[in-house]
Amino acid sequence: MSPKEQLDTLLHESRTFSPAESFRQQANFQDEGIYESALQDPEAFWSAQAQELTWFEDFESVCNWEPPHAQWFIGGKLNAAYNCVDRHTLTHRKNKAAIIWEGEPGDSRVLTYDMLRREVDKAAYALRELGVQKGDRVTIYLPMVPELPISMLACAKIGAIHSVVFGGFSAQALRDRIIDADSKLLITADAGWRRGKIVPLKANADEAVVDTPIEKVIVVERVGAEAGITLHEGRDVRWQDLMASAPTSPYPAEPMDSEDYLFLLYTSGTTGKPKGIVHSTAGYLTGVNTSMRTVFDLKDNDVFFCTADIGWITGHTYLVYGPLSAGGTVVMYEGSPDFPDRDRYWEIAEKYGATILYTAPTSIRMFMKWGSQYVEKHDLSSLRLLGTVGEPINPEAWMWYHKYVGQERCPIVDTWWQTETGCAMIAPLPGLITTKPGSATRPVPGIAVDIVDEDGNSVPPGHGGYLVITKPWPSMLRTVWGDDERFRNTYFGKFEGIYLPGDGAHLDEDGYIWILGRIDDVINVSGHRIGTAEVESALVAHPAVAEAAVIGRSHEVKGQAITAFVTLREGIASSDDLVTELKQHVVERIGAMARPEEILFTAELPKTRSGKIMRRLLRDIGEGRVIGDTTTLADPSVVEALKAQYKDQD
Ligand code: PRX
Repeated sequence: MSPKEQLDTLLHESRTFSPAESFRQQANFQDEGIYESALQDPEAFWSAQAQELTWFEDFESVCNWEPPHAQWFIGGKLNAAYNCVDRHTLTHRKNKAAIIWEGEPGDSRVLTYDMLRREVDKAAYALRELGVQKGDRVTIYLPMVPELPISMLACAKIGAIHSVVFGGFSAQALRDRIIDADSKLLITADAGWRRGKIVPLKANADEAVVDTPIEKVIVVERVGAEAGITLHEGRDVRWQDLMASAPTSPYPAEPMDSEDYLFLLYTSGTTGKPKGIVHSTAGYLTGVNTSMRTVFDLKDNDVFFCTADIGWITGHTYLVYGPLSAGGTVVMYEGSPDFPDRDRYWEIAEKYGATILYTAPTSIRMFMKWGSQYVEKHDLSSLRLLGTVGEPINPEAWMWYHKYVGQERCPIVDTWWQTETGCAMIAPLPGLITTKPGSATRPVPGIAVDIVDEDGNSVPPGHGGYLVITKPWPSMLRTVWGDDERFRNTYFGKFEGIYLPGDGAHLDEDGYIWILGRIDDVINVSGHRIGTAEVESALVAHPAVAEAAVIGRSHEVKGQAITAFVTLREGIASSDDLVTELKQHVVERIGAMARPEEILFTAELPKTRSGKIMRRLLRDIGEGRVIGDTTTLADPSVVEALKAQYKDQD
């Protein structure tokens, strides 16, 4: 289906699904009035939500908004780790499972809140022992093992700012993020497991830290002797040794100001340099905690299975800070959905009696391809609510999820949000909102969203435009680390005092929002955000490449795939080997998620007479669309040549 056809199908979707009476009756939120009251007085709404946290000192005022900078819960003092762990140990939740960890086949571990507190506190002592101070940045490069959330919470406990780098990133990408954050300490593992194979994290880390501010590296032993690593005398310390020698007494949580930074998380933008998105302590925690109760309808006996990796925002928010701040039980899985077999998620969901499942459309499309038999093999009757995130979900994938995983019983919450927003912004409250397959429905209470035209005017129903957020919200990013100018320009540069997420959206006649995807040079591959400029800079760093232009084109499973158009330097001949080499080169510079699906060599790139690459044309070629006006091109024959070449590829 062409993108135009896909869009038409999406916008003509007319099926609706109302919450079942049985779900509605048990839902945390059953009164639609919550939307209106939060809209009338957002500060009162958020102030009430913030009371769900435990404060060392109450805040004096709710919000100070000096666009583009917001402060929330001013004057308050609290600690995120205390809220996620310690406070639950003082209640009936003390011996409740906080984290259920499922490793690659053979391993599993359950940490109760009490056990988690002891681990976090030992790690907090260890970090202090190694000289980490309040406000210091700690980079964490770990696989999906319990030491990852433990490390994050230990940082939060002592007031250090963590910067988690997804374990799939390359040494170079890790290095860039360490340097940008100016981290003195790195926490990594000897290696990780992925489909029974070893992922060499320590080897990447060794390469990454050379000539950076990193003074100490903590190494978690995950794989053991098989990883074959060496420890650098004076720099590397074993996690297990640190934990064994740490005091066992409780570590007193550092009282943090509401606005103190909790973490940085790097994400891609429209330039080659990733942005360190900065989140605050109280605002972020209030936002994520609220969404657990509103969007995910979390109850004390829920088992929340979030399939995201903690290296991305979904994992930060819905595997760590959201569920734990709400005293929930999360299931954390180390491996991939098809190892040892394609029913791995369903096996885990059944094993632990998951009640809520949160995953990505790209995974659902993959499950569809594999066939329903893998789901049907398992008893999924414990599930009561399903969620999706990361990219627009096509109605067929939504229906498949509804039918085979939700067994036509579970509401689906399609949650639109971003690294920058901290938590779900547009999503149905599952007991209240009638859903439509493919629509994230409407903003959650307390969030003010609009769809506007080029001049910033609201579009009428039946029209599309720029998605914007018109009022500040507690979990909004505070800045871009070390680059407030970029923060201003990227998010508040187009419309004064109004946040621009970079997505296009359509408003239907019922006021439902349909997210249409990115409107900037960011590609969404399998729910991962990748900047075209990042891939282009990786490509031009290769000695054979003179110039590169990268676009996203639609892909059946990944949502979007990367196509690179490359011109080679004089005297270099194109070959299949060079294609393989260039793809590998991108993997080494960024990571496997940025590997181009296809690379096309071209003598020239289509450019305007002023020398600007015409990406729109490249996108048209990539999508196999009829090419429109090419009169502004310096050399129109370039397009014909590319089209012919692209066809040959197929
Ligand atoms: O384009 C939107 C898409 O993912 C982008 C945010 O990416 P990231 O910061 O990596 O966070 C992903 C997980 C929260 C958005 O700008 N996106 C995310 N969720 C949805 C979505 N697009 C459509 N529908 C969604 N539910």
